[in-house]
Amino acid sequence: MLRSGTLNSPAHIVIFGAAGDLALRKLIPALASLAAKNQPASGFHIIGMSRTEKTSEAYRAEVRAAMPPELLEAWTKMEASVTYCRGDVNVAADVKRLSEHLDALPGGDQTGRLFYLSLKPALFADAITRLSEAGLLEAIEGDEKRWRRVVIEKPFGHDLKSAVELNQHLHRHLREFQIYRIDHYLGKETVQNILGFRFHNAIFEPLWNRQHVELIQITVAEELGMERGRGEYYDETGALADMLQNHMLQVLSLVTMEPPSSLDAKSVRAQKVAVLEALHPPSRKLMAREAVRARYTAGTIKGQPVPGYLQEEGVAANSSTESYVAVRCEIDTWRWAGVPILLRHGKRMPQRFTEVQVQFRTPPIQLFNRPDGISDDDFREKLRSGDLCQTRPNVLSLSLQPRERIGLSFGVKRPGPSMVMAPASLTFDYQDTFKSQSPAAYERLLLDVMLGDATLFLRGDEIEASWSFADALHAAWKEDTTPPREYAAGTWGPPEADELFHGCEGGWSRG
Ligand code: BG6
Repeated sequence: MLRSGTLNSPAHIVIFGAAGDLALRKLIPALASLAAKNQPASGFHIIGMSRTEKTSEAYRAEVRAAMPPELLEAWTKMEASVTYCRGDVNVAADVKRLSEHLDALPGGDQTGRLFYLSLKPALFADAITRLSEAGLLEAIEGDEKRWRRVVIEKPFGHDLKSAVELNQHLHRHLREFQIYRIDHYLGKETVQNILGFRFHNAIFEPLWNRQHVELIQITVAEELGMERGRGEYYDETGALADMLQNHMLQVLSLVTMEPPSSLDAKSVRAQKVAVLEALHPPSRKLMAREAVRARYTAGTIKGQPVPGYLQEEGVAANSSTESYVAVRCEIDTWRWAGVPILLRHGKRMPQRFTEVQVQFRTPPIQLFNRPDGISDDDFREKLRSGDLCQTRPNVLSLSLQPRERIGLSFGVKRPGPSMVMAPASLTFDYQDTFKSQSPAAYERLLLDVMLGDATLFLRGDEIEASWSFADALHAAWKEDTTPPREYAAGTWGPPEADELFHGCEGGWSRG
C-alpha cells in the first residue's frame, strides 16, 4: 500500500472491451467517481476500444445511459476527456491506429498509460502480443512519468497449466512491475480491513491460531443467477472457478496469512502466497464427502419465481456445472494445522452476503447452565456424552458485504438467582460509524494502478497456488460421473454441505 509517487500529467486509460458490461457498469463509473474526487490530481483520459464502429459522441451516450444517477454530474464534467477508437486489439493495423490516437492526446507518448484488458480470457495472450509488437508496452522500471501498465481481468487461466502459460507469456512481453492481475474483492474496504483488524489490534493476534480457533468459515452467498446473458460464460466456468478459486481464496489468504514485515506489495504478497501454498484440498479419499457441488433447481427469490440452472439461457441441457460449492480443507502451517477451513459459495441463495466467521474453542469445563436438580455425576456424564452442551463458542464475524460489520458473540449472565449464561454480542457497523458509503472496489484499484501500487493485485504464483487447489477438486469431480446435487433456488444449498461440520460445533452462517 505504498504509492510510488504522484503523477504530473494526465494518464491515458485504454479500456479494451469498452462496450462490455464490466466497462460500462463498473470501470467507467469508478473512474467518474475518482474524477469527482479529483484523484489523481493530474487527471486522466479514457480511451474506449471495441470492434463496433461508432463515434466518440455515440460511445459517451452509451456510457451515460449506464451511469448510476449519483455519478451523472461527475460524468458530465469529465465526458469530454473520453474518446472512442474502433478496433480489434488482435489486428496490428487497429493497434497502430490506437497508438496514433494516444499520441495525439495531451501528454502524447510522454505520459503514463494503463491498458485494461476487459476482454474474453482467450484473447489476453494475443492482445499482449499485439500491444508489445506495436511498442506500446516499453517501459523503464521506476519511470514515474512514462509508465506502461496492464490490468488483466479474471479468470486468469482456467487451470494451473493455463495460468502458468499465461504468466510465461506475459513475462515474454512485460516486466512483473507492469502487470496488475486484478481481483476486485481486494478493492473492497472491508476486505482490506481484514489486515488492519488483525495486525493493528493486538488483542486478537494471540488468539488467531490452532490453539484457540476451532474453525473458520467463509461464505459468499448470492441471490443472482444467470442474469445479463451470463449463462454461457458461467456454464464453462462454474462456482469453483468463478468465485472460490479467486475471490474466496484471496479473502482466506488475508484471514490466515502471517504478519507481513511492512505493507509494501512484496511483503504482503509473499505472506499470501505462503499460506495459499500450504492450503490443502480434501484428500482423494475424502473428496466425495468434503467437497460438495450442487446446482439450483427452479424456486423463488424474494417471492419471484426463477428458473432452475439447467433452464437458464446459455446453459447446456446436459451440463454438469455447479452453481454451488462447499469444501472443507486445511492449512498445513504451524499456526493452522488441524483447523477446519470451511468455504461455501452459491448462486440463487436466499440472501446476498459475504462473511468470514472465526469460531473460537469453548472453555474446557462447563461451569454454567447446569439444569436444576441434576446431580454432580449426572451433570458430568451428560457433558461427557454430549447430551448436554450449552456452551456456545465465541464467534468473530467479519461481514464484508452488503452489511459492513464486525460482530463478536459471547455469553453474559442472565439476571437472576442461578448462574445461567445467555448469548450476547458486540457489533461495529461501518456506516453507523463513518456515515459514508465505502468507495466501489474498482475505484480504489484503478487509482492504485495509476499510482503504481501493486499491493492489492495478485502475483503470478498466488494465482498458480489457487489453481492447484481448484484443480484437485475439478479432477475429482471429473472422475465422478454422478450429476451435481440439487437445491431449490432460494434455499441454502444441499443438506450434504451441513455434514462438513462433522466433529465441530455449529453450522453454516445465515448471514
Ligand atoms: C464476479 C463473478 O467475479 O464476482 C460473478 O464472476 C459474481 O459471478 C461477482 O457475481 C460477485 O461480485 P460482488 O462484488 O458483487 O460480490
